[in-house]
Amino acid sequence: MNCVHVEGLSRLFNGVKAIDNIYFDAECGDSVALIGPNGAGKTTTLRILAGLLRPTSGIVRICGYDPFTESEKAKSCIGYLPEDAVPFLNLTVRENLEYVAILRRISDVRGTIEDVMRLLDLTEIANKVVASLSRGNRQRVAIAMALIHRPRVLLLDEPLNYLDIPTQEKVIRLFKELSDSGTTIIVSTHIMSIAERLARRALIMNRGRIIWRGSIEELNKIAKLSGNAIEEVIIKLLEEESPN
Ligand SMILES: Nc1ncnc2c1ncn2[C@@H]1O[C@H](COP(=O)(O)OP(=O)(O)O)[C@@H](O)[C@H]1O
Ligand SMILES: [Mg+2]
Repeated sequence: MNCVHVEGLSRLFNGVKAIDNIYFDAECGDSVALIGPNGAGKTTTLRILAGLLRPTSGIVRICGYDPFTESEKAKSCIGYLPEDAVPFLNLTVRENLEYVAILRRISDVRGTIEDVMRLLDLTEIANKVVASLSRGNRQRVAIAMALIHRPRVLLLDEPLNYLDIPTQEKVIRLFKELSDSGTTIIVSTHIMSIAERLARRALIMNRGRIIWRGSIEELNKIAKLSGNAIEEVIIKLLEEESPN
């Protein structure tokens, strides 16, 4: 079954196409990286998938549901980590998690919060207000908020932003475990090494369009054959697509 289905999706902002007729599917359990330079349309795509932004045209299904007309069902299936996620600043870490747990109608609020805090090393800062935390710690709280209901589909927008290297490693391991246990992951990044480690498949985007699709393994093969780094392969693909 496809947990994510996108068909002929476009989104205009003031007449300008941020997303231009894109198609892709992600089977349940698959992990897909949206790779591309700033302005490629990654965040817009994820916001539409999360049901936060209406497409101008096209079809989206998450776990088989339309995020707008069947928003409750779709949303219970989705965990969304926004780019530059900011939890409520005047609430503590625990209160932020309680808020989401209640919103998500989780039955064992206390136990669930303890589990997710352990998972993201938040236990020690549970009673701190978010305003007093570093950007990296805020990001960890935001990740916990996205995961708390164990969604079938995780939409991650530049998830490693602000994290120090040891925390990045921990978070990558966590996402990998979730992926191995069947969570579908759609992750946006402009950093190839992150895509390589978090995803099995890649969609390279530029100016609102998907200009290349395939497995990360294929990208690696192309890089090896051409004797270039994978980043250089992507730059070439982007240049071929927009020669000027
Ligand atoms: N709310 C908005 N209003 C107007 N233009 C927007 C808005 N959101 C995104 N865009 C434009 O859409 C394009 C794609 O942006 P975005 O999806 O944020 O790209 P990415 O995440 O790949 O950097 C950019 O040209 C951006 O300026
Ligand atoms: Mg973005």
